[in-house]
Amino acid sequence: MRLVLLGPPGAGKGTQAARLAEKFGVATISTGDLLREHVQNGTKLGREARAYMDRGEYVSDRLVVRMVMERLQEPDCRDGFILDGFPRTVPQAQALEDALADAERPLSAVLKFKIGDEMAVKRLANRWTCPNCKRTYNMAFKRPSVEGVCDVCGSRLTRREDDDEVTVRRRLEVYREETQPLEFFFWERGLLREIDAQALEDIVIERTLEEISDIVDIDG
Ligand code: AP5
Repeated sequence: MRLVLLGPPGAGKGTQAARLAEKFGVATISTGDLLREHVQNGTKLGREARAYMDRGEYVSDRLVVRMVMERLQEPDCRDGFILDGFPRTVPQAQALEDALADAERPLSAVLKFKIGDEMAVKRLANRWTCPNCKRTYNMAFKRPSVEGVCDVCGSRLTRREDDDEVTVRRRLEVYREETQPLEFFFWERGLLREIDAQALEDIVIERTLEEISDIVDIDG
């Protein structure tokens, strides 16, 4: 299984990636999480990336492509992977396509999660994230059992700095300008599959599993 998850901020890419990873035991690579780790650790890459992320804009293709290519070399990606939030630009998609062609490991499918802007803003305004295990919660849709505490690892939940409404609306604009063209890129290659993500999380995972039922054994 070699999947790309595409969709605007708040579409539920991270949520669905975690559900798929749990079910199929496949590695998940979130470029947002990797970049936030670099920012937190104060690496050179993190220092370069931070200003872009705070404004809701994209980090340079050069930095992101190098980071993902290194991650894909790790042993846990050998049997497949789920890319959450990469590629996001045509040059990134081209670099991924070339690297996977060289390795004779082409993508299985690209899943595009569809959601309206107002729902995205509402979801992100209510998102809380576990900084330790990366699990996400939502004060409107999926509250933790104990207020402010991760159900899984017990860490204190935090808010993402780029989830304020002004930055979310900028992120939605950047998505339309830079990432929407990728839909045609992958459609032309017969890889694009669209999923209506404006539904309960459990319904979205059902739709997702149905979309990939020709790629993996979803009952296995
Ligand atoms: P990143 O962290 O990837 O952010 P994003 O793409 O904007 O996506 P989000 O994580 O906000 O949303 P999601 O779709 O994963 O939704 P989630 O599942 O969390 O990137 C951040 C920044 O890093 C970028 O702005 C950029 O600067 C940089 N970056 C990253 N990748 C890059 C790249 N390739 N190139 C350049 N720069 C890059 O769900 C959201 C909320 O909704 C949660 O609270 C969740 O619980 C809830 N929820 C999920 N599904 C449902 C549902 N079905 N019903 C109700 N609630 C739901």
